[in-house]
Amino acid sequence: MEFKKGHSVKLEEVEKIIRDYLPREEGHQRIVIEAMNYSVLAGGKRVRPMLMRETYNYFMNSSSRGDFKGNDKALEHFMSALEYIHTYSLVHDDLPAMDNDLLRRGMPTTHAKYGHAIGVLAGDGLLNYAYEVASNAFASDNYEMIIKALQVLSRKPGISGMLGGQVVDVVNSGNKVDIELLQYIHRLKTSALIQIAMMIGAILAGANDEEVNKIEECALYIGLAFQIQDDVLDVVSTDEELGKPVNSDEKNNKTTYVSIYGIDKAKELVNDYSRKAIDMLESIDGHNEFLVEYIESLINRRK
Ligand code: IPE
Ligand code: IPE
Ligand code: MG
Ligand code: MG
Ligand code: MG
Repeated sequence: MEFKKGHSVKLEEVEKIIRDYLPREEGHQRIVIEAMNYSVLAGGKRVRPMLMRETYNYFMNSSSRGDFKGNDKALEHFMSALEYIHTYSLVHDDLPAMDNDLLRRGMPTTHAKYGHAIGVLAGDGLLNYAYEVASNAFASDNYEMIIKALQVLSRKPGISGMLGGQVVDVVNSGNKVDIELLQYIHRLKTSALIQIAMMIGAILAGANDEEVNKIEECALYIGLAFQIQDDVLDVVSTDEELGKPVNSDEKNNKTTYVSIYGIDKAKELVNDYSRKAIDMLESIDGHNEFLVEYIESLINRRK
């Protein structure tokens, strides 16, 4: 119960930050800004900004932080930017040329509501706007950390991360995919954005390179667990509970951990990867009980 209460307070804080940095709906182009804001405000668990902030808190509690004051304002910029990039990835993932889905976060998908052209442009708009918000973090000091954070935010959504994973995912729809290639897809399409969250949280809290590398590996496992659970829910949940259409993977002939191993073994792997992530986290100097409980709560999440 305590965790649930703590989580809902923190979630509200995260929501407010994400809302505060959204663009104003004005100008002749305001239709695309409406569509961008619609897709961000439709809902969502806010897993990535939450992980960013809580990883930041983990490192701020480290014994070696001394009198380092942190960089709370810059953190807000990056939390918002990452949620916008994630939302763009969902808007494009739902397009007819990709997974062709009509429900997202319990609402009509962006292209279903605004049409295909605005759906594409709203995704592009969110991606670009994310960097506008992130680069405004330079208004605070600690330039060196902000540059490092921007480098992570620039690399991992792209061809060597999320977008790369989406490419390997779509070109292999209908193909037989072995477990090695499937894990490659998950590392890129899902772990990359979780890694951004935790690496930037660490960087802005003054973590050193070795610590950032460790948190990158920890986030890799959280991402793998997260995508396997997403694939489980695609089979066992309902549209109402999930807020997106179930059986999307089967419709698109996707190979998943569930199609290879079955539900029970897939669930076991969610647990194993999450435990591995927590062990990895706890080997790093720092402290945040909530973060550990949050990672645990994702194992059996129902949406
Ligand atoms: C969905 O991400 C896409 C995956 C990588 C599995 P989330 O499950 O975090 O979606 P929202 O943000 O809660 O809608
Ligand atoms: C997509 O995976 C992950 C992204 C990078 C958007 P899915 O296609 O399984 O995500 P959902 O189930 O539509 O959210
Ligand atoms: Mg997809
Ligand atoms: Mg999809
Ligand atoms: Mg899915």
